Amino acid sequence: MDARSDAVERFLAATAPDHTSTQDEMADLADDWGFPIIGPEAGAVLRLLARLTDAGRVFEFGSGFGYSATWFLRGGADAVICTEFDEEEAKRGVQFAADGGYADRVTFEVGDAMETIARYDGPFDVALIDHQKHRYADAYRTVLPKVRTGGVIVADNVTRGPIEFANLVAHFEEGAPLPDAEIDAETRGIGEYVGTVRSDDAVETAVLPVGSGIAVSTKVI
Ligand SMILES: C[S@@+](CC[C@H](N)C(=O)[O-])C[C@H]1O[C@@H](n2cnc3c(N)ncnc32)[C@H](O)[C@@H]1O
Repeated sequence: MDARSDAVERFLAATAPDHTSTQDEMADLADDWGFPIIGPEAGAVLRLLARLTDAGRVFEFGSGFGYSATWFLRGGADAVICTEFDEEEAKRGVQFAADGGYADRVTFEVGDAMETIARYDGPFDVALIDHQKHRYADAYRTVLPKVRTGGVIVADNVTRGPIEFANLVAHFEEGAPLPDAEIDAETRGIGEYVGTVRSDDAVETAVLPVGSGIAVSTKVI
């Protein structure tokens, strides 16, 4: 990382909102477990999006113990549907919600997020995609009809995570092929996701280099 990028990252970290006490405990648990939470820089954007969309209902693909959900709640969302296939993580999420006094605003659905979304009707104001990277585009296509016009779909890890970012840069700059799914399904999944939202007239997309990089798509039709 060059000196300016490093300074910008430090500036974003230093100016991100403070954690609540519950979020502090979640961040400690994430450190203990080596678990990838979205972090306060991207969390601030989730909070902003909830506020700007006057969010009622939010759907998350891949919630862990509910850290990202707390940012939507801080932005005034009425209800967040959390999905998680790891029972222990979901159990911790339910406990955090009870201890933090927001249990009436979050629901933890244990199981495959793709099966859970099939059981839910829209409309949602916001959806967060943060589960298996090779399934991002599928999640987008499934949730889009359930997001209201003017609503937002956010995808995490578009610039950092279990991906080879240099391969994505080469793909979008020079048209280099994405890696085969058998070789690197995560990088391919993120590349396909960004390509999908960029070419879909139903949404307008901005990639924001906060946290691990988020793609924010507003539904316009
Ligand atoms: C990056 S973490 C989510 C972090 C969370 N959004 C946050 O910022 O606090 C991804 C989570 O998605 C879960 N996951 C991955 N694929 C899933 C799927 N198909 N259905 C449900 N959960 C899934 C993983 O077990 C993991 O806990």
